[in-house]
Amino acid sequence: MLEIKNLHAGYGAFEVLFGIDLKVSKGQWVSLIGTNGAGKTTLLNTIAGIHKSTKGEIWFKGTNITAFKPCEMYRLGMAYMAEGHPIFQNLSVKENLELGGIAVGLPPKQQAQKLEENYHLFPFLEQRLKQRAGTLSGGEQQLLSLARCLMTSPRLILCDEPTLGLAPFMVKELFRILKHLHQQGTTLLLVEQNVEQALLFCDEAHVLEQGVITLSGTGAELLKNAAVQNAYLGC
Ligand SMILES: Nc1ncnc2c1ncn2[C@@H]1O[C@H](COP(=O)(O)OP(=O)(O)OP(=O)(O)O)[C@@H](O)[C@H]1O
Ligand SMILES: [Mg+2]
Repeated sequence: MLEIKNLHAGYGAFEVLFGIDLKVSKGQWVSLIGTNGAGKTTLLNTIAGIHKSTKGEIWFKGTNITAFKPCEMYRLGMAYMAEGHPIFQNLSVKENLELGGIAVGLPPKQQAQKLEENYHLFPFLEQRLKQRAGTLSGGEQQLLSLARCLMTSPRLILCDEPTLGLAPFMVKELFRILKHLHQQGTTLLLVEQNVEQALLFCDEAHVLEQGVITLSGTGAELLKNAAVQNAYLGC
């Protein structure tokens, strides 16, 4: 589904990613963990076309998307729940969701069907449709941001720290939804600071340190790894 070959990226003369090779197969949940400043967000931004690579290739569903723009990614089936989980604060909850559908040119009938699916997955949304999105709690805004991604019927979702700042019950709720999406066959590439949960539920995981993938394995393997336990799990 996604293949990254020898990817380099940076900011001017400051290099951040040094030859990343990464594959995410159809239906797989891949988690990416790493220290602060390792380049996780830069990697996701580069895959999503927001940041330009300096070298290397990105392939998505057999197409070389290295030079594609973010709007083209949505149409191809890639959604991005970006850092900070931006939503349109002054629009209503429903308008935010509809914009997700509009971004991929969803016809009205399918738009209505997608909204129904979202209400089923995020029951609180249906009770808040007219509420200004900016007045939702921080956690609810994060869920709305994910729900808007789902309006585009993505094959692959890139998630950058979706649980950041969430209360424990919201973290649980978010992982419930990610597990559901995975069971339904959605491919996930998740960057997460909640390392234990990220490794517990994924199929494969990678550790990114200073712009290089230093360790890869199944979630279970990384959970048992002494270096991961020391650095990320406080064991
Ligand atoms: N717009 C920018 N201009 C210059 N440097 C940047 C920019 N964005 C990020 N960086 C730098 O690139 C490096 C990687 O940042 P990035 O945000 O990708 O790390 P991260 O792994 O997502 O970190 P965190 O876990 O804190 O979110 C950092 O040293 C950061 O300061
Ligand atoms: Mg980041």
